[in-house]
Amino acid sequence: MRELLVLLLLLPGPAVAEEAPPAERRTELLYLLRQDCGSCHGMTLAGGLGPALLPEALSDRTVEGLAEVIRAGIPGTPMPPWGFEITGEEARWLARKLKEGIPP
Ligand code: HEC
Repeated sequence: MRELLVLLLLLPGPAVAEEAPPAERRTELLYLLRQDCGSCHGMTLAGGLGPALLPEALSDRTVEGLAEVIRAGIPGTPMPPWGFEITGEEARWLARKLKEGIPP
């Protein structure tokens, strides 16, 4: 698992020129994505209590819009707000990762 994350971080991606949190924080964020978000959205993010967060499902969503949902949550639903531990930059980075797709 750790090797996979390290590999993921070393892969040169199209996001290289875009804003991104420091490498250490990226590892934490991906861990959170799998553990915390995955607890509702499914281990492979294919959906569970929450909807699928796979690229196909998010193709018509903007990075800004997704980042907003991640930080503010969706009131009246189980989707919690994460703004207390995820900054705007981090949320946009996560949103881009979701739209690009994260290798299983
Ligand atoms: C306690 C369960 C739970 C957790 C934990 C959770 N979510 Fe959700 N999430 C939901 C539910 C339920 C919805 C759908 C709400 C609705 O619109 O009915 C949702 C919706 C979303 C949406 C909107 C999807 C769309 O197609 O509109 C995004 C994006 C999202 N979650 C991202 C995340 C991320 C990223 C995390 C981790 C940082 C996370 N969620 C953690 C339950 C959860």
